[in-house]
Amino acid sequence: MYLKNDQEIELLRKSSLLVASTLAEIAKVIRPGITTKYLDKLGDTYIRDNGAIPAFLNYNGYPASLCISINDTVVHGIPDNTELRDGDIVSVDCGTILNGWVGDSAYTFEVGEVAETTRQLLKVTRESLELGVAQAVAGNRIGDIGYAVQSYVEGFGYSVVRDLVGHGIGRRMHESPEVPNYGKRGTGVMLKEGMVICIEPMINLGTYRVKILDDGWTVKTNDGKPSAHYEKQVAVRKHKVDELTSYEEINKVLNK
Ligand code: CO
Repeated sequence: MYLKNDQEIELLRKSSLLVASTLAEIAKVIRPGITTKYLDKLGDTYIRDNGAIPAFLNYNGYPASLCISINDTVVHGIPDNTELRDGDIVSVDCGTILNGWVGDSAYTFEVGEVAETTRQLLKVTRESLELGVAQAVAGNRIGDIGYAVQSYVEGFGYSVVRDLVGHGIGRRMHESPEVPNYGKRGTGVMLKEGMVICIEPMINLGTYRVKILDDGWTVKTNDGKPSAHYEKQVAVRKHKVDELTSYEEINKVLNK
């Protein structure tokens, strides 16, 4: 586990804010009829125009710059010629390497008119992320984050994906510790000042069970019901929450 000093955290913040701006660019154009490949190209170009490198491209052989996951795809959807349709929910996950430091975050967008049950899933998942983030303070434990997310979403009858978890991040995209979206209060690794973690609830309307498709990447729900995914990068401090990611730009574009 590499603890980051203030200067390193500021470099991570820059990378993370570039991810947020990239997601805001996606927010500007996302609509029915557009292909996921088009969005990937847009994100790739924006990242490079801002002096960074897409962190996902070629990571363990991943073939694109964004992960774009529609409806029952939980995460790691590979951009292709699929056209978005009215009523889809679309998780866009983005990573950048800026001056050697990795930014990583995700947002689930609504395309056109989305069913009320699904909109509530998105809202509750966003809220669970904020509850998890609020626990990311020095002295708390990893299990406090997972407990906050899990207890909240299960209260609505939703389920937490177990097979994928959040992670530490720094010069590498995945560092220790793992950050599950489930857990018990007061258990797991203690959070220390200078840890930087990604909290990324993947919350399903139905069963928590998921499967990986033959492409080796695409993760789908077993029951075909929708799944929501949001991710923020957070620096652990004493007595305060320090979000490196901001949804402000996205919210502005979406009028939220
Ligand atoms: Co991540």
